[in-house]
Amino acid sequence: MFTENEIAPLASIEEWEDDVLIRYPEPNKPAKTKEEYRNYNTPQRDTVKEFYRLNHTYQTYDFVSAKEADFLKFDKKEMRVWDACDFLNTLVDDSDPDTDLDQLQHLLQTSETIRADGHPDWFVLTGFLHDLGKVLCLFGEPQWAVVGDTFPVGCKHSDKIVYSEFFEANPDSQDARHNTKYGVYEPNCGLRNVHMSWGHDEYLYQMLKDYLPEPALYMIRYHSFYAQHREHAYDHLMDAHDHAMFEWVDKFNPYDLYSKVPVPPNVKELKPYYEDLIAKYLPETLRF
Ligand SMILES: [Fe+2]
Ligand SMILES: [Fe+2]
Repeated sequence: MFTENEIAPLASIEEWEDDVLIRYPEPNKPAKTKEEYRNYNTPQRDTVKEFYRLNHTYQTYDFVSAKEADFLKFDKKEMRVWDACDFLNTLVDDSDPDTDLDQLQHLLQTSETIRADGHPDWFVLTGFLHDLGKVLCLFGEPQWAVVGDTFPVGCKHSDKIVYSEFFEANPDSQDARHNTKYGVYEPNCGLRNVHMSWGHDEYLYQMLKDYLPEPALYMIRYHSFYAQHREHAYDHLMDAHDHAMFEWVDKFNPYDLYSKVPVPPNVKELKPYYEDLIAKYLPETLRF
């Protein structure tokens, strides 16, 4: 259905997060010049743009419904949680072995920074798990249906979404059911009633929703929803409870984006702690 270039426009899925960092640089740090960001103004930025073109063109209400119907059956694989992290780690970036962290290192850097700040253990666990949904890539899903900024489908696309001009090619933009401010939704209906573009956030949320405290679930489900947690573009769909819970999403985001520690976490040393934490909250195996 999609060509190889459409499935994997990015050399690695980290290129998306590198680009998010350009949009949202770390506050209170001297601003980097564009030249200091690797790959800025290079062909790799064009691949990010192409990635968003595909994402914004193909993530329709019907596309999301079809992915939900397929993946929320969780009939693809059953794994122990730690083994799933190892599995995710097979998603290696062969384009830039020196600079890119592997997936497990990103998870551990996020969770260890949360732990060092003295947060509750379920928050630490959330940091450790938050990108586990990226295993979708290993099931052959296109990159633009796994990572990238997420946004509501079934209503008008906000112009605060990055590269929003590409939504012109999205069939929902011409569909009277889906192109009004509220579309298929009611004003302030609450995000629990809103379908988000399909990706690793929603997938992992659905997998873990019975096991973690609600703030953790909000962090997982909406961590890529930059149009809301950074740009506040969808207040009209949110209710008071969403607003209260988004304080946690805001708290989580800097750990995801900026937790680069000088010494990489020692996986072997940390494994027993995380195995205990997993056992405290989650079943022995998860179904993917
Ligand atoms: Fe993520
Ligand atoms: Fe992440």
